[in-house]
Amino acid sequence: MAASGDTLDGTVVLVTGASSGIGEATARRLAREGAAVALAARRADRLEGLAAGIREEGGTALVVQADVADAAAAADAVERTVADLGRLDVLVNNAGVMLLGPIVDAPAQEWSEMLAVNLAGLLHCTHAALPHLLRAAEGDPRRVADLVNVSSTAGRVARLGSGVYNATKHGVGAFSESLRQEVTARHVRVSLIEPGAVDTELREHNRPEIQEEMQRRFGDMERLRADDIADAIAYVVTRPRHVAINEVLVRPTDQTF
Ligand SMILES: NC(=O)c1ccc[n+]([C@@H]2O[C@H](COP(=O)([O-])OP(=O)(O)OC[C@H]3O[C@@H](n4cnc5c(N)ncnc54)[C@H](OP(=O)(O)O)[C@@H]3O)[C@@H](O)[C@H]2O)c1
Repeated sequence: MAASGDTLDGTVVLVTGASSGIGEATARRLAREGAAVALAARRADRLEGLAAGIREEGGTALVVQADVADAAAAADAVERTVADLGRLDVLVNNAGVMLLGPIVDAPAQEWSEMLAVNLAGLLHCTHAALPHLLRAAEGDPRRVADLVNVSSTAGRVARLGSGVYNATKHGVGAFSESLRQEVTARHVRVSLIEPGAVDTELREHNRPEIQEEMQRRFGDMERLRADDIADAIAYVVTRPRHVAINEVLVRPTDQTF
């Protein structure tokens, strides 16, 4: 299904935040590209439904219930993937929360959650996965491995009302570039995906007054679909071994900011 380059036949992919939105679409898409996929998130019922759909299409899927904010659970998710599926070629660090609003008088718990999931969770998964990715990059079938970090336009530009979300996604960008320099010569490609507005459940976790403000800001804009971002991720991880797509910014055509 990929336009060119490697297929994912014989590879194993772990997608965090696979129970909805971008992660769900990405897992389904990479399974269609030939990968066995491990599905991580907290809502096991949603993961089981996705796994059943992937298996119906002839794919291989493993459900790994995990809260990536918990370092031990994140490491277990990686180790279970390798134990059950045999290896790890691609980690898609996608799990995230976006709790917006002014910084003054913000509920501190919202900041803790964003830091714990968007930043610390991504670090926990990456730390556990790197030895396996480095090993996969040394051998067949691809002699290359991929770490895909899902950031945001919010990782490039800070805006009024999204300060801590901006901080987590800017952190993801800084970490990704440093790690890229460290491991790229060993053929672990580190890629940053930066979506604009995507139609998913992400907004629904905000306080009602914040959701109203977001509705005013985005209005009737035609948002991206989760499949649009899955498409970008599929492109990134199916390039030939000598091609590393370091950064992909994808906005809805209607998005001016
Ligand atoms: N939608 C957008 O407009 C947009 C734009 C730019 C970037 N992004 C980024 O895209 C990523 C995916 O978001 P989405 O839009 O697809 O939203 P979504 O539908 O709300 O999906 C978020 C996923 O993250 C998982 N998750 C949250 N906390 C978790 C935790 N502690 N441990 C494990 N998994 C956790 C959720 O699963 P459980 O609740 O089942 O654990 C869910 O599968 C996020 O990193 C987000 O920042 C989204």
